[in-house]
Amino acid sequence: MAGLVGASSVELCVVLDEIPADSGPAKRGPSLPFVAAPQPPLTSPKSRVRFRDDMTQENQPSAARKRIAIIPGDGIGKEVIPAAIKVLNSAAAAGGRRVELTEFDWGADRYLRDGVTLPTDAVEMFHREFDAILLGAMGDPRVPTNVHAADILLGLRFKLDLYVNARPCVLFDKRFTPLKDRSEKDINFMVFRENTEGLYVGMGGNFKKGTADEIAVQEDLNTRKGVERIIRHAFEYAKARKLKRVCMSDKSNALTFGHDLWQRVFKQVRLEYAEIEASHQYIDNLLMQMVRDPSQFDVIVTSNLFGDIASDLGAQIAGGLGLAPSGNIHPGQVSLFEPVHGSAPTIAGKNIANPMGAVLTVAMMFEFLGWKQEATAIDAAVRRALREGKTPAELGGSMGTREVGDWLANSVAAAGVQLT
Ligand code: NAD
Ligand code: IPM
Ligand code: MN
Repeated sequence: MAGLVGASSVELCVVLDEIPADSGPAKRGPSLPFVAAPQPPLTSPKSRVRFRDDMTQENQPSAARKRIAIIPGDGIGKEVIPAAIKVLNSAAAAGGRRVELTEFDWGADRYLRDGVTLPTDAVEMFHREFDAILLGAMGDPRVPTNVHAADILLGLRFKLDLYVNARPCVLFDKRFTPLKDRSEKDINFMVFRENTEGLYVGMGGNFKKGTADEIAVQEDLNTRKGVERIIRHAFEYAKARKLKRVCMSDKSNALTFGHDLWQRVFKQVRLEYAEIEASHQYIDNLLMQMVRDPSQFDVIVTSNLFGDIASDLGAQIAGGLGLAPSGNIHPGQVSLFEPVHGSAPTIAGKNIANPMGAVLTVAMMFEFLGWKQEATAIDAAVRRALREGKTPAELGGSMGTREVGDWLANSVAAAGVQLT
């Protein structure tokens, strides 16, 4: 894990206290994927690695220190996050900012080793001790139940109440969209995915499992509060940026209870935003329209599952899954940032994954932390890399994950941060 930071200016100390392994995977009974298993407490966390970034001066007035938790996770998460951290450190240094990075080794390896997924007091710790969390990806073929990803990733989304999943779809360079005759002006929209409800809540179960009479139930939970706050967030976002259009997508023609609630709430909330054109598309039509004419969208707001699907499609039309960043946000509270992509096990460990989505995720995180110029500097470096062909295989180039990360970090350092 110490490989995350290569710079000699970074001080490293590892807290070696052991958590007794009290719930190894072999001892766990069958569990629903999204139901958290009992976890040991985090107090004196095992393998907690603390990096102290001393690249900036203590006494700089602009240098408010931000505390960022790093969870590389599984597969290519362990490759793209180190690359992103180089860029993070470079941009923070260029802007005279101070960051304190603390790494957590939660993921499949840890789960398989000692059964730990998300320690019980992790949520309180994040509230108390961190400003933001940067996560790589969760998912490993050795854990077919995906229980660790459910506990860690979905667990943090739910327990930190990160109700906004913001997934921007922005085409940086027209050469990278697979859509014919489309350019940067056509693909520039935000997908807001409701992140704490819907089909993801893990309510349900099996009856007569494994028999010919088996029944499986998976509930779609929609609350008035949950639907209203994400819809309102979409309108507020549009209003703040003078964006003209908000499109809500559901499947209310078939899901006549849950998505009827979405319909009613949307119709009510839109009345407060008369200056914004509010439209509705069923999810099947929306996905087709994203391909047919993505220029019609500024802001899309939708439910948890539909947002998951729409954001992978949005990522691809904007250049590729490896380029797409995202934020799991509760405004004003500790929030979690991660690239949209998963752990991509088939390309993991080969230094070929595109780290740009993770790098742009750092920019989103910086923006959330109020470090706008540093975020802009990172965006600009990615645009330069795309323009100059400093790209990995996903984007037709030949550079490795590490090389792209190094290039971007150097590029940010060379260009500096433009003060506004
Ligand atoms: P995936 O996103 O891992 O991969 C989908 C495809 O995109 C694969 O062909 C992969 O090689 C490619 N790809 C993804 N990221 C890339 C990158 N940065 N550079 C180049 N190519 C990239 O999705 P999947 O294959 O459906 O899932 C694999 C595992 O990841 C599963 O365990 C899944 O549950 C998990 N997953 C996790 C997250 C997350 O942690 N946020 C997101 C999606 C999937
Ligand atoms: C994502 C992922 C997750 C999701 C999986 C890993 C549970 O696909 O972040 O998009 O569906 O939310
Ligand atoms: Mn997804």
